[in-house]
Amino acid sequence: MTADENPLLEGLTTRRAPEPCALAIYGASGDLTQRKLMPALYSLALRRLLPERFAVVGVGRSASTDDEFRARIREGIEQHARDPFQTDAWERLAAGMRYVSADPGTDGGTDELWRALGEVDAERGLGGNRIHYFAVPPTAIGSLIEDIGQHRHEQPGWTRLVIEKPFGRDLASAEQLNAEIAHHFVESEIYRIDHYLGKETVQNLLALRFANGIFEPIWNRQFVDHVQITVGESMGIEGRAGFYEESGAIRDIFQNHLLQLLALTAMEPPSDFSADAVRNEKVKVLRSLHTPGPKNIVRGQYGRGFVEGIEVAGYREEHGVARDSTTETFVAAKLYVDNWRWADTPFYVRAGKRLGKRETTIAIQFKRAPHPPFEISSVEPLKPNVLLIHVQPDEGVSLAFAAKVPGQGMALRTVHMDFLYGGAFRTGLPEAYERLILDCMLGEATLFTRADEVAEQWKLVDAIVAPWQRDQPGFPNYPAGTWGPAVADELLHRDGRSWRRH
Ligand SMILES: NC(=O)c1ccc[n+]([C@@H]2O[C@H](COP(=O)([O-])OP(=O)(O)OC[C@H]3O[C@@H](n4cnc5c(N)ncnc54)[C@H](OP(=O)(O)O)[C@@H]3O)[C@@H](O)[C@H]2O)c1
Repeated sequence: MTADENPLLEGLTTRRAPEPCALAIYGASGDLTQRKLMPALYSLALRRLLPERFAVVGVGRSASTDDEFRARIREGIEQHARDPFQTDAWERLAAGMRYVSADPGTDGGTDELWRALGEVDAERGLGGNRIHYFAVPPTAIGSLIEDIGQHRHEQPGWTRLVIEKPFGRDLASAEQLNAEIAHHFVESEIYRIDHYLGKETVQNLLALRFANGIFEPIWNRQFVDHVQITVGESMGIEGRAGFYEESGAIRDIFQNHLLQLLALTAMEPPSDFSADAVRNEKVKVLRSLHTPGPKNIVRGQYGRGFVEGIEVAGYREEHGVARDSTTETFVAAKLYVDNWRWADTPFYVRAGKRLGKRETTIAIQFKRAPHPPFEISSVEPLKPNVLLIHVQPDEGVSLAFAAKVPGQGMALRTVHMDFLYGGAFRTGLPEAYERLILDCMLGEATLFTRADEVAEQWKLVDAIVAPWQRDQPGFPNYPAGTWGPAVADELLHRDGRSWRRH
């Protein structure tokens, strides 16, 4: 595939090539590795974006041979990669792929891993450069970091750590994890993943705001009435009750994806696109977030209902979920960014499972025209302008404005000016993990979250959930397939507003 056939490749091919390195993936027997990480590596291999000299070492406690590991990964790529399977790209990737069984919890439990890393370094000429990717539950990370820290100076080259969300489960545990990391590593070696930041549309939000002169002057309290951010999933918990019972919507989505989308929407223009310039501006927004009082926070849990025409069980009926579980599967909030640009402009945000459909959007609703000199139309009441950023699916941007209906008189109707990625660029979008893995290989940390951002996100969540321990919520309070509990609608109705219709 050439850049002529694929304009997206054009941008990518102008980047410098990553240095040789080994990628050790811990949790290589898990879901994330099979469904996301290896398909992303395959797509990079297909486009020849991986380093010329490269190796993947899958690490897990389970026993497996290299061949069994390769067979499972191949299956994952065939099922989940965005590109059709091509033998030559697969063989290039598979040639540098091995599996090592290791357990940092036991004495000498990682000796074989360090031996294997040394071997691939020598065989492939990797210069000792290593990325350690933790695709394991958060509780497993501490002992791995300690083990890597103790071995890191045995070889030349750089070491980078990629840590999946959730980073901790509250401020105290996140700070403890950061302290453990700081024992052996510096911040610039840490790549905390929030995969939303790797999505094309999320990066396009920055392009939209900072590469176009027309939006910035109106991107503030003078012109914006309010902002709505929705991260809706139609899926349930997909058999991950153990994980979800511990996290709930506020830790799974609100603490990371939702607050990152808000920060990117509200941030000041950075002086450049370097990691620290962008992250400095995001962290200022997170610090300016006012903790919402109980009236401005809504939580919910789905009961039995219909999603896309199919009857589905309620959350408490899911396998592995406690019958009296008080875990929230929905959270909505009215947030304020207490700064000069956004004072008194509400940011209504919501995230939930088993909602009407899968949809992530950011809607910037502008103030109404002060005095439209037209008679009120009989077609429909005049609506305010909305700039809608579709993060997923149907990636694109749409602007709603009023237009005259053809014919006699001055009837008006809202119309949409749409930019759709698929239509404009005629190409599939890279998966977020492709971008993020490549950025980590290049040492570019702009799209990863910094320790202070994560801390600010947890501070807000801790303050919100503190009173939750005291009151018993009346769960379930919304049927699966709807847009959350009625109280979430009241959050906006009180202010004379409503959630965007879907
Ligand atoms: N799946 C997703 O779509 C997704 C999305 C975003 C973030 N994440 C995050 O990515 C991480 C991995 O997710 P996953 O869905 O792949 O999880 P998973 O399938 O439950 O587990 C991944 C692997 O981790 C290993 N593991 C489990 N407990 C361990 C322990 N105590 N010590 C060492 N290794 C252990 C297991 O392999 P062995 O038994 O062979 O060691 C397991 O196969 C989690 O932090 C998750 O929150 C996942």
